[in-house]
Amino acid sequence: MSTAVRPLVLLGAGGHARVLVALARAAGYPVLGVCDPALAADAVSRWEDLDVLGDDAALDRLPPDRVALVLGIGQLATGTLRERLYTGWSAKGYDFPALVHPTAWVAPDVALGDGVQVMAGAVIQPGCEIGANSIVNTRAGVDHDCHLGRNVHVAPGANLCGTVTVEDGAFIGAGATVIQGLRVGARAIVGAGVTLVRDLAPATTVVGAANQLR
Ligand SMILES: CC(C)(COP(=O)(O)OP(=O)(O)OC[C@H]1O[C@@H](n2cnc3c(N)ncnc32)[C@H](O)[C@@H]1OP(=O)(O)O)[C@@H](O)C(=O)NCCC(=O)NCCS
Repeated sequence: MSTAVRPLVLLGAGGHARVLVALARAAGYPVLGVCDPALAADAVSRWEDLDVLGDDAALDRLPPDRVALVLGIGQLATGTLRERLYTGWSAKGYDFPALVHPTAWVAPDVALGDGVQVMAGAVIQPGCEIGANSIVNTRAGVDHDCHLGRNVHVAPGANLCGTVTVEDGAFIGAGATVIQGLRVGARAIVGAGVTLVRDLAPATTVVGAANQLR
């Protein structure tokens, strides 16, 4: 079923969520309101220019045939909340449409998974595959034939050269560069500003100029 006519409900209210509201609207989706447990607990009725619909239980009144969802929870290096919410609500039948900002360039043959968020100024070149619930953040670059798994975050201004593989849940920090042909393992972390010149094993973190492992 097409999600184009279904309004979006935003999950979470924070900095990433504000970016997502702007992205969703720029991509042509109306945003019905926001679900956020903390706002609901404080009985806040409005957030930004949106109605606070309640905590996640508010979705009991908004089934998957009426709304689709957009994840407003960001993913910092080690967080898993974003992944858990996506998995849980998808299992209940909700769609998370892929959102692409109109100022981003996504080559026509690129495969975007459900819930992928491509922010303003990002570039994704031909032959790429971006797994479900991944973020290609503001001004990030993903060059030709890169393969990103699920729940990957390429942070603002990071660059993946061609034919890079990034496995599930990995995080590429702001302004980092990953040279061509490398593999970043599952849940690995490339620190902000790193130039990665060799493969990174799963669940390892690299910071600094010399690819020092910690
Ligand atoms: C890699 C990272 C996750 C490590 O976080 P952390 O485990 O909390 O590390 P700390 O801040 O405790 O720093 C530990 C040490 O590593 C150094 N360090 C941390 N990140 C670094 C980086 N990106 N480059 C160089 N050195 C770094 C710190 O200076 C510190 O050095 P010290 O022990 O000599 O004082 C984090 O620093 C980082 O780069 N995050 C990415 C931020 C980002 O891209 N944000 C975008 C969000 S949209």
